[in-house]
Amino acid sequence: MPFSNDPIVKVKDLVYSYDSVRALDGLTFEIYRGEFVGLVGPNGSGKTTLLKCLSKLYTPQEGSIELDGRDLRKLSQLEGARIYAVVPSEFSMDMNISITDTVLLGRYPYLEGLWWERKRDEEIALEAMEKLNVLNFGNRKLGELSSGEKQRVLIAKALAQEAKVLLIDEPVAHLDLGYQMEIMEMLKSLARDGVTIIVAMHELNLAVKYCDKLIVLDKGRIVACGKPKDIVTQKLIEDVYGVKAIIQDIPEVGMVIIPLSSSNNGGVFDKKNGKKGATALGKTPARRRGVGA
Ligand SMILES: Nc1ncnc2c1ncn2[C@@H]1O[C@H](COP(=O)(O)OP(=O)(O)OP(=O)(O)O)[C@@H](O)[C@H]1O
Ligand SMILES: [Mg+2]
Repeated sequence: MPFSNDPIVKVKDLVYSYDSVRALDGLTFEIYRGEFVGLVGPNGSGKTTLLKCLSKLYTPQEGSIELDGRDLRKLSQLEGARIYAVVPSEFSMDMNISITDTVLLGRYPYLEGLWWERKRDEEIALEAMEKLNVLNFGNRKLGELSSGEKQRVLIAKALAQEAKVLLIDEPVAHLDLGYQMEIMEMLKSLARDGVTIIVAMHELNLAVKYCDKLIVLDKGRIVACGKPKDIVTQKLIEDVYGVKAIIQDIPEVGMVIIPLSSSNNGGVFDKKNGKKGATALGKTPARRRGVGA
């Protein structure tokens, strides 16, 4: 077991409701230092809401979150920024600053007094850029980069923050297969260096390939949590995604999920009541699900 016995994230009985929607319905789990954790589950199952609670963007109505042994509620923004860094799913900042300066922004929790980096801050930012292979973008602007390149810059910024926990929402959603694997491999190697990685994602085959642990959410609840090979079953995939799938263990590849058909057969599956429902258009294509890499 490569991970320390000391949980770095401890969540207990967490509830978060938007006005009328109970998006997180009593979550309890622990994550250990250096674990690479995939948060998976259908659209609307609560992944982003959970990441927002973990990054203190949202205040849960019930339950508790401890990060690195500290009650999240009692952490100041700067203290929090030394423990966790967030990589958002869509990057709307269209800043007209260079890639190097973008990564340097990750050093803000450590700047003393004036907004002025010390040599050490620059070294750390450059190290992070080297690790994420973005050093050669140095003088370009973020808006000039492709999605995959931008994603790598944002992870470099999070790394420059020297956070112990990275919270990342859909890091590979818009990337081609090559970049998807590259990002997952980079995240895996960061985890091996002791950084705890929590990633919300839809690409199940990538999640089972790279993640040490999966937390499977459905309608705001955890329906499975553990090593991919211990928890991913045909039944789980069908129960959670409404998809019939074959799960195979291929030598030298590992577990592979092969989706066969949506079990709702082209109707709209009303998961709440567990039955198919008619639509205004009569026949609606099977709900698109993000299964498979
Ligand atoms: N700002 C909001 N106001 C009201 N309800 C919201 C808001 N954001 C999310 N929700 C609802 O909370 C639930 C959880 O949404 P969340 O965005 O956390 O899901 P998700 O698992 O990240 O989904 P996706 O895979 O589509 O990104 C959904 O029912 C969603 O409609
Ligand atoms: Mg989301």
